[in-house]
This record gives sequence, structure tokens and C-alpha cells, in this order.
Amino acid sequence: MILAHNYQLPEVQDVADFVGDSLELSLEARRSNESLIVFCGVYFMAEVAAILSGKRVLMPVPLAGCPLAAMAGPEALAEARLEHPNAAVVTYINSTAELKAVSDWICTSANALRVVEAVPEEEILFLPDQGLGSWVAEQTRKKIRLWPGFCPTHFRLLPVDIQRARREHPEALVLVHPECRPEVRCLSDQVLGTGGMLRFAHHDAAAEFIIGTEEGLLHRLRKENPGKRFHLASPLLVCPNMKMTDLASLTRCLAEESGQVTVPPQWEAGARRALERMMAIR
Ligand code: 13P
Repeated sequence: MILAHNYQLPEVQDVADFVGDSLELSLEARRSNESLIVFCGVYFMAEVAAILSGKRVLMPVPLAGCPLAAMAGPEALAEARLEHPNAAVVTYINSTAELKAVSDWICTSANALRVVEAVPEEEILFLPDQGLGSWVAEQTRKKIRLWPGFCPTHFRLLPVDIQRARREHPEALVLVHPECRPEVRCLSDQVLGTGGMLRFAHHDAAAEFIIGTEEGLLHRLRKENPGKRFHLASPLLVCPNMKMTDLASLTRCLAEESGQVTVPPQWEAGARRALERMMAIR
């Protein structure tokens, strides 16, 4: 089974069996019956697929990483836990399996607020994304302690880009990802993960949208809504890691069955436990 994230190149999305956001891909990997999964995305996503499916998972380009996931490690978390002994640790899925293994809960952009509300503790250490963490903090009464991590791609989007896009497309609604800066989010009409953007654009009456997330999403938005118009909020919204996988590397991976993703056993059980706790919250 070929799984692809919504940010993958159009030609990769078009040959995948399933294209989705981080939560949908996790659920799909978990319920898959196929003995082999080829994951087109970035490394932490393939790790999650391996942990949840128990199947062999290959990546066309295992070097495709996530800089945000590299911004928090277990040693720094252990120190933070000592400083905040009453806090629960909620870790964004954009993180290493090693960090997940020492976290209490995992969340994605699609369920972050729900997870934080479901956690019994009133104080939360939220890792590693300050964008998503600050967005959750705006909507809950719980004490959210932010981590200084950020997505370099989403952080390239600035308020001036939204202002310019609105001048150029005055009829359009602005949808931005929660990984964006707070000062960008507050200029938007909706803050949504990639799956949420697809559902919103499909069901809303508006015919034109400015999209504040990685450009790969525009492929599905346009394909699934041929009568509507979509504009990328900034030409800088390109994740170089998401673009590493192409048809040539995917074909090679399928032919050679290369690029296996293995999660060290000392992290696997802990990471699965934190992921399964998230899955139990609906
Ligand atoms: P979602 O597709 O879950 O919204 O995640 C987007 C993202 O930024 C992944 O790195």
C-alpha cells in the first residue's frame, strides 16, 4: 500500500492508494491489511506508520526529515519535567519516536485541542511546536507551557503576505495552518490542519481561498474543487523535505524494496502507548 501526505508532489499523490493528513495516515496505516507499506512523506510519519501497523514500512527517500521534529529531544524533556513535575506531556506527532516514547500523549493538528482537553492534568508541557501550542493555548483554560520549536516552512509566512494576498484577492477566504505564527493566524478566517482545509473548502459556499500552508495541498484542493479558485499565500511555502520524494525514487523503492524504516525496540513500545492513547480520544 502506498501512503502519501497531502504535501507530496502531485504526481506522487496521484499514484498513492491513500493521501491524507497526519492523523488520517496514522489511522490508515493502523488498519491496513497489506504486508508492505511504502510511505511518501517525511521520516517521523513513516515511523508512526511502522509503529501502528507492525508491518514492513519503506520510504523512497529516508533522508527526508522534519526540522521541527529535530527541535526537541528526550534529555531536554527530562529537564523540563523536573521543572514542571505536575505537567502532562503532550507531544505533536511531528517528533522523533524517541521523544514520543517518553511523552504521555501524542496529538496532531486535527485533534490537538481535543487531546489537551481530555488529559486529566491542568498543566501541559506542549512539544515541540510553539505555533500549534500557542493556538491550543488560545482556546483552553489549561496552563500550556510552550516549547521553542517551529516549522521553518510555516514560519516563513508573514502578516505582510496575508495583507498582500487579501489586496490581490479581496473575495477570498484565508485558511492558515496552526503551525503558522500567531500574528499570521489572527489575520486569517480559519485555522485548520490540511484535512480540515480540504473539508472546509469543499463544503463552504466561498468560491475563492488563500491558502497558508505547504503548496502541495493545492493539488488536492484544485482537483477536488474544480469550480473554485485557490491561491498560495506566499511562494515561500515549500517544504524541501516533502519535495524529496518523486516518481523516480518511488519506482526505485518499489522495485528494490529499499529504504526500510525501523524503529529501535527500546522506543517502539513507549511511542505506541502514547500514540494509542491519542487514538482512543475521538
Ligand atoms: P497535517 O497534515 O496533519 O495538518 O500536518 C501538516 C504538517 O505540517 C505536517 O508537517
